[in-house]
Amino acid sequence: MLRIGSGSAVTSDEQLAASGGLSATNLAHLRVKRLARLGRDGELLRMAGLADVVVANPPVPVKDAVLAAIYTHTVAEPLSQGDLATAREKLIDAGPLNNYASDGVYQGFRDLGFFVIRKGDKLIALSSYCTHQKCELKAERDHSFYCRCHGSTFDPGGKVTEGPATRNLPALPTINQNGHLLVKVTGT
Ligand code: FES
Repeated sequence: MLRIGSGSAVTSDEQLAASGGLSATNLAHLRVKRLARLGRDGELLRMAGLADVVVANPPVPVKDAVLAAIYTHTVAEPLSQGDLATAREKLIDAGPLNNYASDGVYQGFRDLGFFVIRKGDKLIALSSYCTHQKCELKAERDHSFYCRCHGSTFDPGGKVTEGPATRNLPALPTINQNGHLLVKVTGT
């Protein structure tokens, strides 16, 4: 294995980058692993495009880095204080991935803060709270979302199609852990 500067190991992604094979995806993977190595978990979890990285089935080291960051940043602190309820609330096991094999919007976790959406080979978790004033959204038959409070609507990808909401629905970080879908619920 190659070594650089301060003796840190060069991974296969870094070798790829060094050989000119750097893509946006490789770059994102490198960034995830770098932030994980530095212990900057909060920054890692706020990284732009992280949801796209994790739904695209990244290499195991990247998955592990995201999962470890979620654990440390979100779960470890409440657990260290014996607050199991808070820890559970923030990292939710949405069950076996097989449960989401068909295209559609799955509403089983709406009250806990997210919809699971399968479209082809993509599986994402979208916040189930309206970005206007956090009312719970309703999934429509056409897979769009409607807010009964003031009438905002969002398309199936979470993009605002009618106000007063102005922000799109955030995709929540997800990870495949031993065939289960884990979702990190944020306050968004
Ligand atoms: S809370 Fe959804 S439109 Fe106001």
